[in-house]
Amino acid sequence: MEEKRKKVVAFTAGRRGGNCEVYVKIALEAIRAMGIDVEMIRLHECELHPCTDCLRGGCYVKGPEGCIWKDDGPWLAEKFMESDGYILAAPVWSLSPCGIVTDFRDRVFGPKMDLAMWEINGGMPEWAKGRKKMRPGGLISVGGALTENWTSLGMATLYTTTFSAQTNVVDNMNVYQVADPGEALMREDYMRRAMYLGQNVGHAVLNPQIDWERKWLGPDEGEACPGCHRSLMIGKPGRNFVECAICGRKAYISLDKDGNIQYSWPEDNRDRLTMMGKFDHAREIARHTETIYNPHVDEIQDKLKYYRQMEDFTVKAPSRTKKKD
Ligand SMILES: Cc1cc2nc3c(=O)[nH]c(=O)nc-3n(C[C@H](O)[C@H](O)[C@H](O)COP(=O)(O)O)c2cc1C
Repeated sequence: MEEKRKKVVAFTAGRRGGNCEVYVKIALEAIRAMGIDVEMIRLHECELHPCTDCLRGGCYVKGPEGCIWKDDGPWLAEKFMESDGYILAAPVWSLSPCGIVTDFRDRVFGPKMDLAMWEINGGMPEWAKGRKKMRPGGLISVGGALTENWTSLGMATLYTTTFSAQTNVVDNMNVYQVADPGEALMREDYMRRAMYLGQNVGHAVLNPQIDWERKWLGPDEGEACPGCHRSLMIGKPGRNFVECAICGRKAYISLDKDGNIQYSWPEDNRDRLTMMGKFDHAREIARHTETIYNPHVDEIQDKLKYYRQMEDFTVKAPSRTKKKD
């Protein structure tokens, strides 16, 4: 029997014909040259309402189709689930990816797609049966600022779309100094990097027998964290360690003889990029509800009535105000 062709789906949140798209198309062209089918979806051309956290009712039990919003959300989730590889590209707006990326993340991923939650809570929900897949992924963040620190939360936030469904990011590229439409083409270094990113994702897609969890195919670009290959650390005064803000991995810090920071990363297989990290998180949520919330639930619900009724100073948006004839 002929083997089913593999497919990589790229989601892009940049302008139509803008810089993100140039790099995505270069990556997809390289992937297609490896015999893999490719698709690109422009998130800004989708109708996508933000998740309202309707207490995980519909979508968790019935899948994305169970969402209260009848828009392109379920179709996007389907596109993700049918893919064998994932690419996400977004421009940086005010340090972070533009807003539709977090709507995309919350509508398509989150608890309903969490592989650990599925296993812990009595197995896969009906809608997800036979659909578990761990995909390799590549992330592209594009900023226009001259200084890299103006892109600080871009890549970090793109990573947050990969946690629940265990998309294994094998490469990421953080672009800066690429601002105006078409400027992407002035940077041959980034164009080549995008081609390599495509080939890296393609290679991982063609070799599903390898466990791609926390495996890196990108170049060594001098980033600190060996897990996510970024350098965004939480370092509190009085501590001798930092935690990676993206994957949560812990490193002990010291200074070398020239006063440069050195990181020492103990062996660890429980950060957010691993299945074990996801299990820890799922257990933590369950433990919290059981031990902290549930014993006080009646008392809390009673007190909450006071604040639920306090509506005299809330103001409705014009779109929510019914017109009077
Ligand atoms: C509202 C807005 C905010 C922006 N903020 C940043 C920023 O904080 N840092 C940065 O590097 N670039 C910033 N940019 C520039 C874009 O990231 C840049 O133009 C990028 O190339 C756009 O990608 P695109 O052509 O794919 O849409 C901002 C652009 C807009 C429209």
